[in-house]
Amino acid sequence: MEEQTVVLIVGAGPAGLATAACLTQLSIPYVIVEREDCSASLWRNRAYDRLKLHLAKEFCELPHMSYPADAPTYIPKDQFVKYLDNYIERFDIRPKYHTAIESCSYDEVRKCWFSMARDVTTSVAVRYTSKFLVVASGENSAENIPMIPGLQSFAGEVIHSSRYKSGSSYSGKNVLVVGCGNSGMEIAYDLASHGANTSIVIRSPVHVVTKEIIRLGMTLVQHTPVNIVDDFLVRMSNFVFDDLSRHGIVRPKLGPLLLKAETGRSPVIDVGTVGLIKNGTIKVLGNISKIKGNIVEFEGRKESAFDAIVFATGYKSTANMWLKNGESMLNNDGLPMKEFPNHWKGANGLYCAGLAKRGLAGIAMDAKNIANDISSNYHA
Ligand SMILES: Cc1cc2nc3c(=O)[nH]c(=O)nc-3n(C[C@H](O)[C@H](O)[C@H](O)COP(=O)(O)OP(=O)(O)OC[C@H]3O[C@@H](n4cnc5c(N)ncnc54)[C@H](O)[C@@H]3O)c2cc1C
Ligand SMILES: *[C@@H]1O[C@H](CO)[C@@H](O)[C@H](O)[C@H]1NC(C)=O
Ligand SMILES: *[C@@H]1O[C@H](CO)[C@@H](O)[C@H](O)[C@H]1NC(C)=O
Ligand SMILES: *[C@@H]1O[C@H](CO)[C@@H](O)[C@H](O)[C@H]1NC(C)=O
Repeated sequence: MEEQTVVLIVGAGPAGLATAACLTQLSIPYVIVEREDCSASLWRNRAYDRLKLHLAKEFCELPHMSYPADAPTYIPKDQFVKYLDNYIERFDIRPKYHTAIESCSYDEVRKCWFSMARDVTTSVAVRYTSKFLVVASGENSAENIPMIPGLQSFAGEVIHSSRYKSGSSYSGKNVLVVGCGNSGMEIAYDLASHGANTSIVIRSPVHVVTKEIIRLGMTLVQHTPVNIVDDFLVRMSNFVFDDLSRHGIVRPKLGPLLLKAETGRSPVIDVGTVGLIKNGTIKVLGNISKIKGNIVEFEGRKESAFDAIVFATGYKSTANMWLKNGESMLNNDGLPMKEFPNHWKGANGLYCAGLAKRGLAGIAMDAKNIANDISSNYHA
């Protein structure tokens, strides 16, 4: 079976949906494929129960549709999913579900992208040719779990944060959370609130802020130099949280907004974890050196027994596994080679949406840029 289309979009998460909506506004035909049985599977199936959008709603809108006026400032997961469902309906987006892209390559002779997909339920192969190809498969496509000597032999449960739902089944257990980003810190809080004896591995410096502080910063930085805003945010955070270094939490040298812009690392928005760390409910531990049975050994020869380890150690892009001739746009990690804001376009009609570590606001920008660029080439 072979299908022709103007634009092929790979992935029906927020980035693919936003690109589809922008193309529709410009009357450009497209096909959008998704390997799962639903859109935004990350939000529907791979997110913990208590998740809310970390950022205020004004920074989390997709193009051409606002949140309802009465929506809370920080949108809960279920309301975000509902927003996406309304978005799909509004722009009449019809993703081809259960359709996994296995390879895409550029045909120099026919001057088009040639893509192989497979229906994952029937195993039937489907081929697409398209003038333009949009990679919207996400930065969160596969779980990233670090190599730790002895991890295979760990006697307890090992899960990645994307499969963690709630702490209710961990009451009374000794649980280790590895990773101190927003997911790790919130999961540690959730575990401790459900009565798990919780420890967290904090391996590197991290900015802890409040959601109000970061909202203020994101608003101020639209008119004020980033170093001045960062300086102000660090002072406010230090005032709110005090010096956390004796609890194993050290601030990076770069300020929170600059660090995000330069490395993609987000500040951690505290949900109550810091209070529990301060009063000793959650224990902070350093790097793991090895694992043996159910004993985890830390650098400095300390060791403890655990029933479960939750890896909140992030994700990987998998675009490189199927995208051939993508060198003009992606590096070996399947992430953009060029820096923001020039990251979204490669050669021969190749684009990426949502790979610049800039959350939903970045996704909205990518989608608009891509659709406008395709429009100027398509109608030319
Ligand atoms: C826990 C968590 C909380 C977050 N909170 C916020 C927040 O508050 N604010 C914010 O701005 N950002 C947040 N982000 C970041 C970002 O906005 C989300 O990750 C967002 O879902 C990214 O959208 P996406 O479409 O780029 O990727 P995804 O949502 O991952 O969608 C990609 C889709 O592509 C599909 N796919 C992958 N490979 C293939 C293939 N080969 N063939 C077919 N389909 C494929 C996947 O199944 C998936 O459905 C958060 C991220 C996480 C993990
Ligand atoms: C943990 O290890 C990393 C690199 O392996 C290192 O950069 C970091 O300083 C270590 N952290 C601690 C707290 O020892
Ligand atoms: C720590 O603080 C939390 C939240 O304020 C409280 O519920 C808990 O009892 C405190 N624990 C200790 C050991 O002080
Ligand atoms: C809780 O976890 C810490 C760190 O692993 C450990 O030292 C302590 O003994 C545990 N407490 C209980 C009651 O098991």
